[in-house]
Amino acid sequence: MNDALIQAENLYCAYRNGAEQIAVLRGLSLELRRGEAVAVIGPSGSGKSTLLNLLNGLLLPDSGMLRVFGRAHSDLTDSDWAELRRTRIATLFQDGNLIPTLTVSRNIVFRAGLAGLETHEGEVLLARLGIAEVAHRYPDQLSGGQRQRAALACAFAMQPELILADEPTGSLDYTTAQRVAPLFFDAIRERALGALIVTHNPELAQRCDRILELREGALHLWDSALSS
Ligand SMILES: Nc1ncnc2c1ncn2[C@@H]1O[C@H](COP(=O)(O)OP(=O)(O)O)[C@@H](O)[C@H]1O
Ligand SMILES: [Mg+2]
Repeated sequence: MNDALIQAENLYCAYRNGAEQIAVLRGLSLELRRGEAVAVIGPSGSGKSTLLNLLNGLLLPDSGMLRVFGRAHSDLTDSDWAELRRTRIATLFQDGNLIPTLTVSRNIVFRAGLAGLETHEGEVLLARLGIAEVAHRYPDQLSGGQRQRAALACAFAMQPELILADEPTGSLDYTTAQRVAPLFFDAIRERALGALIVTHNPELAQRCDRILELREGALHLWDSALSS
């Protein structure tokens, strides 16, 4: 069995604004296997969010080879991608992804239901993330950090195989981030998920199997010795 969740080779991706073209990814390659967690770091504007959106099918590469779960992107239709996002790939966007008209609990039930699951471990997840008391609140009644943790609970409730996270602890204050980072990581390890985590949080990055830096449109193994 091929246990590669993501295989990307020589990906190019540019945004076009009229005549202007912004080349963001320029020959990016990446492999992520089942049970492996990889941190992606890189300065603002280097293309980290763009990369995540290519990997969940919200953007298409201009050229290069991308396979997810062993399937080539050129063979995946929009509805195939939608199905993957519903059932196998959880994306944690930077600005959270809760439905504003549902309470936190109902968001979790809804998310699990979309993935075809009848049971979910929402209450346990919320308790572990330290936000059991907000289960019956609506997203706009939460602080930024509570909203981010509720979005984490929703992502795990769908029991994904691959998690793509864009700064999952970015809105947390330092103390809460220190507490949530290991919980987030334990949940990934317990479930043997593949995870690609864009983060500047050293607690999270150091727990990953590899740290890659996105620089000049491609990923490079990060060498802390070079950066200090
Ligand atoms: N929809 C878009 N249209 C045009 N340019 C964009 C768009 N989204 C992002 N960009 C540009 O692409 C580059 C990479 O953006 P992004 O992937 O969001 O970087 P990061 O997440 O690393 O901060 C930036 O220069 C940004 O301004
Ligand atoms: Mg970003």
